[in-house]
Amino acid sequence: MITLRNLDQLLKENLKDKIVFVRVDLNIPIKDNLILDDTRIERIIPTIKELKKHGCKICLLSHFGRPDGKNNENFSLKQVIPSLEKHLREKIIFSESLYGDNVKTILNNAPSKSIILFENTRFEDGEEKNDKELAKKISMNGNYFVNDAFSVSHRSHMSTTGLSNYLPSYSGRYLEQEILMINEALSVSEGKRLGIIGGSKISTKLKVLENLTEKLDILFVGGGMANTFLLAQGFKIGKSLCEKSMLDIALNILEAAKNKNCKIILPEDALIAKNMEKGTPFDEVTIDKVPDDGLILDIGSKTIRSMNEYLNNVNSVVWCGPLGLFEVNPFQTGTVAIAKEISNLTKKNKLVSIAGGGDTVAALSQSNYDKGFTYISTAGGAFLELLAGEELPGIEVLKT
Ligand code: 3PG
Repeated sequence: MITLRNLDQLLKENLKDKIVFVRVDLNIPIKDNLILDDTRIERIIPTIKELKKHGCKICLLSHFGRPDGKNNENFSLKQVIPSLEKHLREKIIFSESLYGDNVKTILNNAPSKSIILFENTRFEDGEEKNDKELAKKISMNGNYFVNDAFSVSHRSHMSTTGLSNYLPSYSGRYLEQEILMINEALSVSEGKRLGIIGGSKISTKLKVLENLTEKLDILFVGGGMANTFLLAQGFKIGKSLCEKSMLDIALNILEAAKNKNCKIILPEDALIAKNMEKGTPFDEVTIDKVPDDGLILDIGSKTIRSMNEYLNNVNSVVWCGPLGLFEVNPFQTGTVAIAKEISNLTKKNKLVSIAGGGDTVAALSQSNYDKGFTYISTAGGAFLELLAGEELPGIEVLKT
């Protein structure tokens, strides 16, 4: 169980007119000036509001995209101001610079309880290098640091770990909630725990696979990475995506899982096609009947039925990675069917269900069944690293 210094501790201090730097993750999807998903903004509002009640001035720090340490209008955080103001129901102040006398003046002139958004931290060369001088210069204008950006806590950057060297540091409500929910699904003490892992490559999720087989009773492997397991077991997979260099590792994972009493389940059947184009003709075959020119693009109906049976007999599910080529119709079918079952069981209080990772969340929100899940993490890399059992530097500095 991880215990972090949190807002409860910070709020015991007299915060009237104190400056609190809050690291948030405003790295949200924007296309043609339109915000495609503002969940990350929605989730940071409770921390900001709670701090506000205590009279401090709140300075929001965030990165946006990867501008490589240089100013670049395309990555300016000015783009998120309207959405932030809408969610906060108030005007905010914007500061182009992160440190120095200008900032001091802005902060001195700002009325109590103001919210000040700073420009993209990654416009500074020292952000990703976790430069001490930069952290020092920024901290000189503040009193406290709060991290409410779980999704960037796997990075050891100036604004995730560096500031903690100079300011008393605490976790925000949202960061705490993310860790709590993910750990809860992994450690439900009654009944069985099931994991669903998909996506294309074993190599990128090796540690996740190892750690989940350690923690869970059943692990279903779908998506492209299932093909590597199937080929390693001697099945023909036609022209399907697979990692030939990982065949031995796949067999080792299967063997190790057995020793850890974790049952690994692979697809029994699949939707196959000759190419990945929209509208391509497709077929459903059992997994031992994949033709030489076939591509496995989704799980089939038998697999869905047996997955549903498993789901009805477990108490928790952690899901990361789509089960098929969900971007192309009809190869989202498996992912959607499983999402529907999980959502129904969760609504009936039969299941604690957590999902995360960029592609997974995109696939689930396309299905609309994401709303039924106990919790959807907005983190990509950080979610995976937590599932892999790794230490996240941004969390380490907040531990009691
Ligand atoms: C994310 O979107 O996963 C976080 O904002 C981290 O972004 P990064 O991968 O550019 O560090």
